[in-house]
Amino acid sequence: MAVARTHRNAGLGSGLLQTMARLGETVALTAGHVGCRGTLLEVELVDGPPPDADRTLRRRRATFYLRHGALRTGATVPRPPRAQPEMPEWEIMLLPGAAWSGVIDAATRHDLVRALMVEGYGLDPSAGWLALHLAATIP
Ligand SMILES: CC(C)(COP(=O)(O)OP(=O)(O)OC[C@H]1O[C@@H](n2cnc3c(N)ncnc32)[C@H](O)[C@@H]1OP(=O)(O)O)[C@@H](O)C(=O)NCCC(=O)NCCS
Repeated sequence: MAVARTHRNAGLGSGLLQTMARLGETVALTAGHVGCRGTLLEVELVDGPPPDADRTLRRRRATFYLRHGALRTGATVPRPPRAQPEMPEWEIMLLPGAAWSGVIDAATRHDLVRALMVEGYGLDPSAGWLALHLAATIP
């Protein structure tokens, strides 16, 4: 998600985020996913690599999502084995939807990582590093 520099800090990003979350939930419900728990967000880890990352900007961005009701889940996006050291790490946040149970536990984290990598990115859950990562997150 991005807003053109010249139009930032005027509320457009906030409107976009809320609209996308509502639309996403409508699409999920229309597709029969009545248990839709919300919108998954990938947010750069404030203290993650690379060493020279702009932490202030990252903190500002994370605060933006938290201010809009996103929850910190404690889950991160699995790092591929051949990831370059300068590749950032992302935490997974959840913007709760109507069917959100209010509980973030190991099962929730496992579901979120699987949803992102398998349903979202279309990776094979039985493939090497991802299978190991998923197995490690099983409660
Ligand atoms: C994040 C972003 C979409 C917000 O859009 P916006 O229209 O400026 O948002 P709003 O006016 O509704 O809210 C302003 C808030 O956005 C965040 N924000 C503003 N500029 C930002 C920037 N350059 N980078 C990250 N977050 C920024 C801040 O939390 C700001 O509140 P603050 O001034 O109190 O710190 C926009 O800044 C952007 O496109 N950033 C670059 C791309 C990006 O970081 N996308 C998110 C990827 S996870």
